[in-house]
Amino acid sequence: MKFFVDSADADEIRDLAATGMVDGVTTNPSLVAGTGRDFTAVLEEICGIVPGPVSAEATATDHETMLAEGRKLAAVAPNVAVKVPLTWDGLKTCRALSDSGTRVNVTLCFSANQALLAAKAGAAFVSPFVGRLDDIGHDGMELISDIRTIYDNYASIDTDILVASIRAPIHLKQAALVGADVATLPPGVLRKLAVHPLTDKGLAAFLADWRETGQAIL
Ligand code: G3P
Repeated sequence: MKFFVDSADADEIRDLAATGMVDGVTTNPSLVAGTGRDFTAVLEEICGIVPGPVSAEATATDHETMLAEGRKLAAVAPNVAVKVPLTWDGLKTCRALSDSGTRVNVTLCFSANQALLAAKAGAAFVSPFVGRLDDIGHDGMELISDIRTIYDNYASIDTDILVASIRAPIHLKQAALVGADVATLPPGVLRKLAVHPLTDKGLAAFLADWRETGQAIL
């Protein structure tokens, strides 16, 4: 399973990339706005930190403008994946960009039928938002399971399921059990994955016993 960081904070991404656990990055207009920085500058910096796919979202809503934006974003760095919304204009743009060799991440997916359209449009990634479905009382992970089942029914589909809008570590476990290809993790959630109180307690006990020996390995 690939781990992406869901952030536009270059310093945060650089710190997490040092763990060796970061396979890519996803940004969105809200995350970029939160940096207070120029979009292209942020994108260039992030693409230089993480060699894997870095999603950068078009902000137009009409196909022609979205396509022009997508081509400009794709030109920033070879590892840019252009993000487009799951609308008819977004799907048209996905098809055009995919046909010209640009990887596309179709985002704001909230139904299995939408995910099927994204695959038919040649998306490299589809981003179903599990947290936002949970937020309104739906079962976000059920959508991931449905998409996995549908995609696996057709050998011709090679779109990766990129689980997005993750709220807690349990979402990652559930997504992995379902067989999602990618999870894009907020930095805080990624940091929590390695933490367990029994690990901390056990390590403290090992080290206390070791100190009693008076020995040193080096
Ligand atoms: O960046 C796409 C998605 O992960 C954002 O989800 O619900 O945390 O804004 P959310």
